Amino acid sequence: MMVTPTFFNNKNSNNNNTIFGYSLLVFLFINLLNSCSGQSIFTRPGLVDQDDFGVSHLVMYEGLKMHIRTYDNPNITSGHTILFDAGLPFFSSSWGSVLLNLIPKMTDLNIKTVILYDRYGYGYSDLSPYGIDSFDFVRRLKASLNILDYQPPYILTGWSWGGINIQSYYVSYPEDVVGLYSVDGTDKEFYNDPVWINGMSGIVTSFKTYIKNNTENHQEFYKNCLEGRVPANHGFYVDSTNLPKIALTNNQNIFSDPSNKYLNAATQELGIMFQSSFKLLQIIDGLQKKEQFPFKNTPIVVLTASVNGQPWMDRQSAVAQLSTKSLHFIDTVSSHHIPTDNPVKVVNGLVELIKMIDTVEPLNSSSVSLAPNSLILILVAIFVFFI
Ligand SMILES: *[C@@H]1O[C@H](CO)[C@@H](O)[C@H](O)[C@H]1NC(C)=O
Ligand SMILES: *[C@@H]1O[C@H](CO)[C@@H](O)[C@H](O)[C@H]1NC(C)=O
Ligand SMILES: *[C@@H]1O[C@H](CO)[C@@H](O)[C@H](O)[C@H]1NC(C)=O
Repeated sequence: MMVTPTFFNNKNSNNNNTIFGYSLLVFLFINLLNSCSGQSIFTRPGLVDQDDFGVSHLVMYEGLKMHIRTYDNPNITSGHTILFDAGLPFFSSSWGSVLLNLIPKMTDLNIKTVILYDRYGYGYSDLSPYGIDSFDFVRRLKASLNILDYQPPYILTGWSWGGINIQSYYVSYPEDVVGLYSVDGTDKEFYNDPVWINGMSGIVTSFKTYIKNNTENHQEFYKNCLEGRVPANHGFYVDSTNLPKIALTNNQNIFSDPSNKYLNAATQELGIMFQSSFKLLQIIDGLQKKEQFPFKNTPIVVLTASVNGQPWMDRQSAVAQLSTKSLHFIDTVSSHHIPTDNPVKVVNGLVELIKMIDTVEPLNSSSVSLAPNSLILILVAIFVFFI
């Protein structure tokens, strides 16, 4: 809730003005209370080093504050709203270089708002007392954006685990989504991935060790992080990472914060990965029994790092085949960390997605025989019934 600046006229001190003044004080006090329990707003720290016009909001919803950072283009009155979700265990700072490359193109691409957020426990968002799965997360994200009055339609971008979140959002609220951008994004087959099935407990153990290290000797743990003793996919960016300085520093400080908030969030989130991907798998497999393209003609761009091998490439192609309108780009130079390795390529993919969105033909009403919402409700109901 924004508190509008109010000016008192101190020269006139008659009774009416005094009563008016007291009412205003009460009004301002109530507003202040609201902003404490509702949402607070701050501008720093940002994601790009210069001319960072973003505004951060801490939006309270069902007992947890989510950090949402918005970049409103002042040069246009309406246009696309694009959301960015990072991989696991990363947060909004991962998008610093992409944002740096995207800001100068916002007007040409007719982008009104860029929105970045931190999943619970990461960045500036509250740590939840329990792991929140992708479906509950997107429900809370939708509600939090509604509180801020950033309304759909949205273009959803997800890197790595963010891929599960954008697909979970789409199947939950298809009418909110005009386009999906999966940047080496995780897919429903995560649930059957032997690498993760065999490796999960080892990764959880690593994070428990980090929590112990950080608790016993924070300085040494931080030094170890800086010296590259935490694997690149575990959330800490070393100094050589291609990120604006401010985003890099935020990542390093928040990862190793002595409160262990971040490390606990990562441990918690690892615990919901199978459950989230299983729900998505059930829903998409269910839809695919009825229609070849469960995401209909919703434009999708898939950007894949080829370094991860053929089985991953095949799964990425399957994501592109969820819709009748999709493009699949291959990045042959990046690691899985495309947002930091190759931010220009990420922005180029977004340009192609927006071209598709701007030219998509609406489906004829007669050809839309299934109401997606009720179908999903039925599927979710069946699913819930069986567990
Ligand atoms: C808005 O226009 C001004 C003046 O042309 C320009 O400097 C600024 O970069 C533009 N902002 C965006 C987000 O496009
Ligand atoms: C954590 O502590 C273990 C045991 O002392 C050590 O082997 C490991 O290198 C430490 N890791 C980090 C990132 O500090
Ligand atoms: C929509 O209907 C029009 C007129 O009936 C037809 O020419 C067109 O091919 C249809 N488009 C789709 C996508 O079915």
